[in-house]
Amino acid sequence: MRKIDKVSLYWKQQEPTLQSMYKKPNAEYLEKHEKAELLSYLPDLQGKKILDLGAGIGRFTRYFSSLAEHLTTVDMAPQFVARNRQDHADCSNITFLCSDALSLQMEDHSLDFIFLNWLLMYLEDHEVEVLLDRIHRWLRPEGELFFRESCDVMRSKNTKNGYFAHYRSLSEYDAFVKEKFTLLKEGHLRTYVHCFADPLQCYWHCRKNPKI
Ligand SMILES: C[S@@+](CC[C@H](N)C(=O)[O-])C[C@H]1O[C@@H](n2cnc3c(N)ncnc32)[C@H](O)[C@@H]1O
Repeated sequence: MRKIDKVSLYWKQQEPTLQSMYKKPNAEYLEKHEKAELLSYLPDLQGKKILDLGAGIGRFTRYFSSLAEHLTTVDMAPQFVARNRQDHADCSNITFLCSDALSLQMEDHSLDFIFLNWLLMYLEDHEVEVLLDRIHRWLRPEGELFFRESCDVMRSKNTKNGYFAHYRSLSEYDAFVKEKFTLLKEGHLRTYVHCFADPLQCYWHCRKNPKI
């Protein structure tokens, strides 16, 4: 079975719950604290066109929708998309898509901000390259990308119980964005240091390099 099919099978079997998103105990605590921390690193999104790729059950949907001109959320697991749609039925500026991120088609230069919270770790290196190329194309000239991944000091893999993830080093992610994006900020989530002594939940905030 190809890796993308294994990843897809795993996620399609998970309950559409907070617990499934975090894969950690203390999901409620994390939802309160790490989400607030993560949101504090995001730029001003008022009136922006936003894409949340690998949006899961939609933990960020209400926040993005409240600010955005338009929000598109994408996830490959139908039960997550259904929960996201149901929980945000009162929001009129959202398109909910059930798709593999690698099959997604968006118009070039149509988005201001693209957000990925734990997506690239489920892709192979060549898929990350392809997706970042597309993200670069989809963004407007001043558009911004924010992504967060579970990392490791040296690259490692987790293939336990049908789960499949690459934990890349920070420098590997730096190298992925180096040419096409200008790095505005990178860092790690303090909540994970506090809760799990884990300094390797890392984020990158980049601006599109329009010259490429
Ligand atoms: C750990 S969850 C995070 C969900 C959400 N970003 C959050 O922070 O709550 C990872 C999500 O990525 C989705 N996913 C993994 N690979 C994907 C792909 N190739 N295309 C679209 N979604 C994918 C899974 O279905 C799952 O919802």
